[in-house]
Amino acid sequence: MNDRKPLKLDFTDSRVAPEEIQEKAVSLAIGRERLFSGKEDFTGWVTLPLNYDREEIIRIKETAKKIRSQCTDFVIIGIGGSYLGARAAIELLGNRKADVPSDGPRIHYAGCNLSGPYHSELIDELRGKEVCLCVISKSGTTTEPAIAFALLKDLLIKKYGKEAANARITAVTDGRVGVLREEADREAYVNFVVPDDIGGRYSVLTPVGLLPIAVAGIDIDEILAGAEAEAERSKLPGDSSDYAAVRNQLFHRGKHIEVFEYYEPRLQFFAEWLKQLFGESEGKEGKGIFPAALQFSADLHSMGQFLQEGNPILFETVLNVARPEPDLEIPQSAGGLLAGKSLNQINRAAVEGVMAAHRAAEVPMIKIDIPALTAYDFGQMVHFFETACALSGYLLGVDPFDQPGVESYKSEMRKALQK
Ligand code: PA5
Repeated sequence: MNDRKPLKLDFTDSRVAPEEIQEKAVSLAIGRERLFSGKEDFTGWVTLPLNYDREEIIRIKETAKKIRSQCTDFVIIGIGGSYLGARAAIELLGNRKADVPSDGPRIHYAGCNLSGPYHSELIDELRGKEVCLCVISKSGTTTEPAIAFALLKDLLIKKYGKEAANARITAVTDGRVGVLREEADREAYVNFVVPDDIGGRYSVLTPVGLLPIAVAGIDIDEILAGAEAEAERSKLPGDSSDYAAVRNQLFHRGKHIEVFEYYEPRLQFFAEWLKQLFGESEGKEGKGIFPAALQFSADLHSMGQFLQEGNPILFETVLNVARPEPDLEIPQSAGGLLAGKSLNQINRAAVEGVMAAHRAAEVPMIKIDIPALTAYDFGQMVHFFETACALSGYLLGVDPFDQPGVESYKSEMRKALQK
């Protein structure tokens, strides 16, 4: 049972002094004012959890319930901001007991790459299954999801006929423009709108993330409750602002890489989401901190050496889960220091040991304590990092809500296809 504790930032080991954070207090206050004013473009996500559209949440839950009863296999089609948030939540919170029908459909992902083998294997796996699709694209024109959608729609039409296939498709896209919007209207797909004032990587708490997350059987009310609590906190000076200040200070000291480190494998796609959030928001105009992610303890056996003694261009942000559940007792046969202890105890010792070693090596470290891996905590984490990222962008002097580089890759690829 979640007792709803807040996230906690610990920058004791960051090598940034509280006075240095204080020096940024005015800039941060201006940043928070900009975010919460409702006047800046693409800041709709800031207050979304404080006043979300309850009727839309009901419609999301009803649609999810229908999809859960309609199919054994559910395919989420999308890329980047139209997929990573949902995957982060589902990998973090989803039920891993496969093949138990009452646990809901198996979840698959498509359109998140251009691989022929990947999509062939997926199509083979889906043959003979009861399939529903959710196609998500804000622009409605992105190549990867457009291809996957065409392939999978074809599969559905061959199996069910056009009308019944259409009843198995949900679209999440722009409310007015784009190829997918036109198709959703023409074919009468169940559909949801990506709000105009929320960009891809900040859209996880809109239908972009909430619909697939609800299909996976995760409590979206709890996610929104966690985000709401964090949104209230982030209006004021506090952890999300301090985290932005520490990152900025480290950047100006030449620490140009942030390594997100996690000890719970379920955080893998949350870290992928973080990479997109920070990479796309800050990496522009020749500036930005390059976000990387490592899964410990596995990656200690490959990258630990670099962290400890390599080029000192990085700092570490440890995503520390205070109460991972369940736990396991280590049998007596393990002997020595291990017997009778729990795995979580050993994992905690690993966090402490690594931090002690890196402290000695003078690697700056930030620790973010996550109370547990619950839907409430996921909601807090999303809003915390989105706010910190937007404030970091403001401190850096870039627009944290555009992505001209991504647009340019997309249009160059279209040109290459026309040749
Ligand atoms: O954050 C972003 O803007 C991007 O990662 C997009 O989400 C991604 O390129 C997919 O775009 P779309 O939703 O338009 O298909």
